[in-house]
Amino acid sequence: MERPEVIINVASSLDGVIASDKGALFLSTTEDWIRVHELRNSVDAILVGINTIITDDSLLTIRYVKPKSPPPLRIILDSKGRIPLNSKVLQNQKANKTLVFISEKCSEEKKEKIVKSKADVITVLEDEKSGFLELTSILEILKSQYGIKKLLVEGGSTIITQFLKKNLVDRMYIFYFPAFAGGIKAKHLFGERVIKEISDAPQHEIKSIEEFDEGFLVSLKLGKG
Ligand SMILES: NC(=O)c1ccc[n+]([C@@H]2O[C@H](COP(=O)([O-])OP(=O)(O)OC[C@H]3O[C@@H](n4cnc5c(N)ncnc54)[C@H](OP(=O)(O)O)[C@@H]3O)[C@@H](O)[C@H]2O)c1
Repeated sequence: MERPEVIINVASSLDGVIASDKGALFLSTTEDWIRVHELRNSVDAILVGINTIITDDSLLTIRYVKPKSPPPLRIILDSKGRIPLNSKVLQNQKANKTLVFISEKCSEEKKEKIVKSKADVITVLEDEKSGFLELTSILEILKSQYGIKKLLVEGGSTIITQFLKKNLVDRMYIFYFPAFAGGIKAKHLFGERVIKEISDAPQHEIKSIEEFDEGFLVSLKLGKG
């Protein structure tokens, strides 16, 4: 399958929590945000799941550094078309383009409303096993129709878990904020139990560990499982 290079970036607490059950925990520091925005500026597209848009109203643009032109395409995976029409990511499509992937579960009416905002909308199939949008088709479309060579996946937990489970990730950056977050209902970096023994788990290569003023950054090259 022809697909873009896939890079995950995520900010985590020391115990692997990336958000509380209520929403964002703001685990990035200013120093880390500058790095993230430089990373965004180096890719062709940035992808998030619909829950991240609903809870955080993320803009997915480049601040902190001078944005390249055109800026990265913003991609939302949203099978049922739950995206609020006043979401920041649906405004000002001239300056920053958005692409929303939906499934047949999204009503025609909502699809038309999203299209009216000038965002692109593409319908894809759902994965029979997970019920989520088919990631391999999405990656193929991004490469062949949009010329996306480098894709940054920013979350949340469900999206990261699905990309990792399907071995569709090449590189990963985890910024650890030096605190514990806890919470049984919190969102974790990896949200599903898939192994019984640690020996069942694919191991990943640690490329570097970098200490920041607050926290540290782990850079991984992902194993193919
Ligand atoms: N710390 C960080 O770096 C960071 C970064 C980003 C987000 N977050 C946090 O993460 C939280 C949201 O995480 P979340 O796990 O609830 O949701 P999410 O990953 O943002 O979105 C998941 C939703 O996306 C849709 N989806 C469609 N296709 C999918 C696919 N192939 N795989 C996975 N999902 C797919 C599904 O909804 P449908 O079934 O309706 O399509 C699914 O429930 C927010 O609180 C946000 O603050 C943290």
